[in-house]
Amino acid sequence: MTDASSTPAIPVTIHRSDYRAPDWSIPDIALDFALGIDATKVGAALSVVRQADAPVPLLLRGDGLTPAAVRVDGEVWNGWRMDGSDLIVDLGERNAATVEVDTVIDPASNTQLSGLYASGGLLCTQCEAEGFRRITFHPDRPDVLSRYKVRMQGDKAAFPILLSNGNCVDQGEEGSDHWALWEDPWPKPSYLFALVAGDLVVNKDSFTTMSGREVELGIWVRGGDQDRTGHAMQALKDSMAWDERVYGREYDLDLFNIVAVSDFNMGAMENKGLNIFNTRYILADPDTATDVDYDGVEGVVAHEYFHNWSGNRVTCRDWFQLSLKEGFTVFRDQNFSADMGSPPVKRIEDVRLLRAAQFPEDAGPLAHPIRPDSFQEISNFYTATIYNKGAEIIRMMATMVGPERFRNGTDLYFDRHDGEAATCEDFVKAIEDGAGIDLGQFRRWYEQAGTPRLKLSLAEEGGVWSLNIVQTVPPTPGQPGKQPMMMPLRLAAFAMDGSSDALADTLVTVTGATQRIALGKFAARPALSVNRGFSAPIIVDFERGPGELAWLAAHDDDPFARYEALQQLMLDTLVAAVSGKTGDHQAVIEAVGQTLTGAASDPAFVAEAVLLPSEAFIGDQMVTVDPDAIRRERLALQAAIGAALETKWRAILAGSAPPATDLSSKAKGGRRLRGVALAYLAATGAGDAPALAFRIFSDADGMTERQAALATLAHGDSDERVAALDIFYQRYRDNPLVLDKWFQVQAWSLRDDTVDAVKALAQHPDFTLANPNRVRSLYGALTGNQAAFHQADGAGYRLIADLVIALDPKNPQTSAKMIPPLGRWKRFDEGRQALMKAELERILAQPGLSRDVTEQASKSLLG
Ligand code: PHE
Ligand code: ZN
Repeated sequence: MTDASSTPAIPVTIHRSDYRAPDWSIPDIALDFALGIDATKVGAALSVVRQADAPVPLLLRGDGLTPAAVRVDGEVWNGWRMDGSDLIVDLGERNAATVEVDTVIDPASNTQLSGLYASGGLLCTQCEAEGFRRITFHPDRPDVLSRYKVRMQGDKAAFPILLSNGNCVDQGEEGSDHWALWEDPWPKPSYLFALVAGDLVVNKDSFTTMSGREVELGIWVRGGDQDRTGHAMQALKDSMAWDERVYGREYDLDLFNIVAVSDFNMGAMENKGLNIFNTRYILADPDTATDVDYDGVEGVVAHEYFHNWSGNRVTCRDWFQLSLKEGFTVFRDQNFSADMGSPPVKRIEDVRLLRAAQFPEDAGPLAHPIRPDSFQEISNFYTATIYNKGAEIIRMMATMVGPERFRNGTDLYFDRHDGEAATCEDFVKAIEDGAGIDLGQFRRWYEQAGTPRLKLSLAEEGGVWSLNIVQTVPPTPGQPGKQPMMMPLRLAAFAMDGSSDALADTLVTVTGATQRIALGKFAARPALSVNRGFSAPIIVDFERGPGELAWLAAHDDDPFARYEALQQLMLDTLVAAVSGKTGDHQAVIEAVGQTLTGAASDPAFVAEAVLLPSEAFIGDQMVTVDPDAIRRERLALQAAIGAALETKWRAILAGSAPPATDLSSKAKGGRRLRGVALAYLAATGAGDAPALAFRIFSDADGMTERQAALATLAHGDSDERVAALDIFYQRYRDNPLVLDKWFQVQAWSLRDDTVDAVKALAQHPDFTLANPNRVRSLYGALTGNQAAFHQADGAGYRLIADLVIALDPKNPQTSAKMIPPLGRWKRFDEGRQALMKAELERILAQPGLSRDVTEQASKSLLG
């Protein structure tokens, strides 16, 4: 059976309002795997108990499976039929039964990387969201929780290591085979099942929990990679301690295993006691991983670990509740990373990501609330909205009630729903009850899509100043009219000349479509610091002159607000320039210069603050995006800042880089600032810049400096560029994760031949559609390169559509992820609109398209 035939092309829309509790529960499952790379026999024994009042058949979902045998209570059973790809077993009047189904699957031909698949000789599983049904017939819905017993048997030489969830309770040998029996005492939904078999080495460690239990930790990787697992192991131990300290949550098994695999659709997966990771989020050493990579490892290890409580112990009732586990868990990993490093810098990074990935989603054809009302393919809903906006919604609740009351709320949530499949409403109710706050209006964040906008203005009466707020929530597909949201807004107000006292940090709750907030007495118009710390995930429209923004960038006592003020100053300048007005470079140059005076004490913050807004974010501020003008004006401002502050950039580069092994936030910040300085210097066109970049590239003692220098060279047109790319390739051609960077820096290049370069790189012998990381490193990077992707002749669009069409039959999940950039057509001029829509239409005209791509492309075309 081919993969294409297992995914029906006729889109069926599933609605949240249609939820019905399961007819049958499955308290226990025994699985028996006879492992083989291209034929694995799966025997499943489900103990089922009827929950429905009247007799009703048992519906077991399947995807690409054929039942080889069906037995009920040990007897061969004929009372079954197929309904499409699902199996329906008629159990007559029975209230309970043991239903056994045998199937045979072919992991080697599973290119979707969902279900049981082979990755470089290894067998591994990915079951979220609906992959378990590709392994065996099962209801495969998250509200059916079972205790699993898993027996796996296979050739000792091919599969020396056999892992599954829970604890290994028995093992033995049979000729050239061996077997292992794993038992997971915790009931879990099928999406958390996991199995791994293959040749792996382990980095072992242990952690003693707060109640004194010893947990054995294992990180399993391919031979030769074990030396690159230290950072992940440290992150795991730090996460375990953090969840005890901050949430009072202890780990609940004797074993915690992580396996790293090279072929993976996402970042990682929180399977109970057996997390499976993309190698990208496990392997790190200074020679091959950048500081950003290190932080990614730490954050994702924490994220998956935290799911043990927010996701596994309390799971989701149905997939419409996905943000229940993902939003909360992202919020938890964000705070963990903030605690491990610099909180303001982490906040800046998280907000930058939200604005880059989520705001455009919320403003486009694929906008959906964090709790969607309907979907066709759930894989399409692992979005920045569910994850990152979902985290912001949790953060707002925490901000409104403060840390102690928030903890009371989460304690109540875990107490109430431990062992259950819960809903977003259950979470909100627990915070409401535990923290003592009325979240009635706040619930709209779960229902309404779109980024709220606050239009602000200041008014004065008798020396007393007040802030007027007008709130609007824009229409989104299927939601033409919106109600105002409840949100926490942190603000402060300063007298720039010191003539009045400041209004210190204040938390106000905005609820209305219009609202007025008293700021107090000021002799002159105060400088308003608003949405400090990004207390609400919104867009603020507020006219402020360059003088006020520069003052805030220098003096605001909230570092995030300082960052925002400088970014706004840069944005205003760039938007003016792109719209043909004169952008005043001088104010930006002075503010950047002023910010650089803090470089020695807080290089990490300074590096973030002096970075120009991305081309895409500049585009988001415009009625119609002009990618070429944005590129031109951004480069012009970069060159102007580079030239005006050249001595400062050179001074930063003249110092030596912190040793690559030093991972303190100060050292990371120092390296980041050097990267930024090099980019500014190169933007001036200084004759010695390529040579300097090449020297940094060559002398670098680690990947952060090396990659930053390579990326800078890749924008240019020098002999050093050619040399560095070649040296890098030769040195790292056997390291897939580093080779990804080689593809990526070329696809990110600001050169005007980048689309052609990407086209050529797709033909490179090291390029493959079989590996999602490689696909993302080339094509994903291109879609993030605004002026290249939107090249006026449509070549970028064509390239992406060709990729979607070629990849869909192999890996629909990863293919569908490439469509949203084509769906933003409304934001561009008519010529580009027509070209983008034509590519979406060309995709939709393909026969046998997956449900994933069909949903994304058809919704994107509607606009
Ligand atoms: N649940 C995973 C996470 O957020 C993401 C994931 C989804 C991984 C689907 C694989 C497949 O941690
Ligand atoms: Zn997650």
